[in-house]
Amino acid sequence: MKKAALAGMIVLAALAFVCSLAVGQEDMVSVDNSSFTAPRRPPAVFHHDEHNENAGLEDCSRCHHLFDEDGNKLEDESSEDQSCSECHGMADENGRPSLRKAFHLNCKGCHLELRKGPVTCGACHRRNTGKAQ
Ligand code: HEC
Ligand code: HEC
Ligand code: HEC
Ligand code: HEC
Repeated sequence: MKKAALAGMIVLAALAFVCSLAVGQEDMVSVDNSSFTAPRRPPAVFHHDEHNENAGLEDCSRCHHLFDEDGNKLEDESSEDQSCSECHGMADENGRPSLRKAFHLNCKGCHLELRKGPVTCGACHRRNTGKAQ
């Protein structure tokens, strides 16, 4: 009996640990820059869920887009299961901007268009990305 209870507790503790890891990963605070071999800037601030809620972005494909072979955007589909670097390489290719350009066009492009959100280097590439502003 005692052994069974102990085993149960160990299973519960393991489950709690796995769950805490899963929650931690969802809390994106910056855009991962590990695809860049020698990053020159600190990673850009980006609290994914909070950002998209504040900016009123409900359409995932606004950033996680998909195109057909002719380069037409597929309006009802999105690619959030893929990272941008899976399609955008280090150099421009077949109408696809390089990864750095893709981010700058996407992020800064929208901020400029809406006149909301940061557009200067240091406002996105902040030293202490994880901390409250
Ligand atoms: C709206 C936000 C934003 C602004 C403004 C911005 N960047 Fe970025 N930049 C990003 C994101 C997102 C990435 C992708 C990787 C990351 O998080 O650093 C990136 C990547 C880069 C990279 C490639 C990765 C590296 O660190 O080497 C460089 C270089 C860079 N930016 C320089 C600049 C410079 C210089 C400016 C100002 C002229 C600037 N950025 C303005 C968001 C921004
Ligand atoms: C303003 C742009 C933007 C919008 C809108 C957006 N995302 Fe993202 N999302 C990103 C960026 C940037 C990343 C990081 C991609 C990378 O590192 O290549 C990301 C990463 C993710 C990831 C990867 C897992 C993680 O958290 O690390 C998931 C899942 C995801 N987004 C889901 C969604 C869903 C679902 C929606 C719509 C409800 C959405 N996103 C809307 C920009 C956006
Ligand atoms: C499944 C592959 C794929 C993924 C994943 C992807 N892209 Fe793209 N992206 C493309 C293709 C293909 C084009 C060129 C479309 C065309 O021919 O006009 C493109 C074009 C772009 C452009 C320039 C045209 C435009 O729409 O403004 C930007 C900016 C861009 N991508 C940013 C991103 C960002 C940021 C991410 C990650 C959040 C991302 N892309 C993820 C395939 C992808
Ligand atoms: C489709 C439009 C759009 C795109 C794409 C977009 N943003 Fe924003 N962003 C906004 C808006 C709108 C605001 C201002 C929200 C507000 O006023 O509360 C904002 C605000 C911000 C802020 C300031 C708030 C904060 O959390 O400090 C940061 C940083 C930011 N964006 C980073 C990014 C990065 C990095 C990307 C690309 C991965 C990105 N944004 C892509 C629309 C966008």
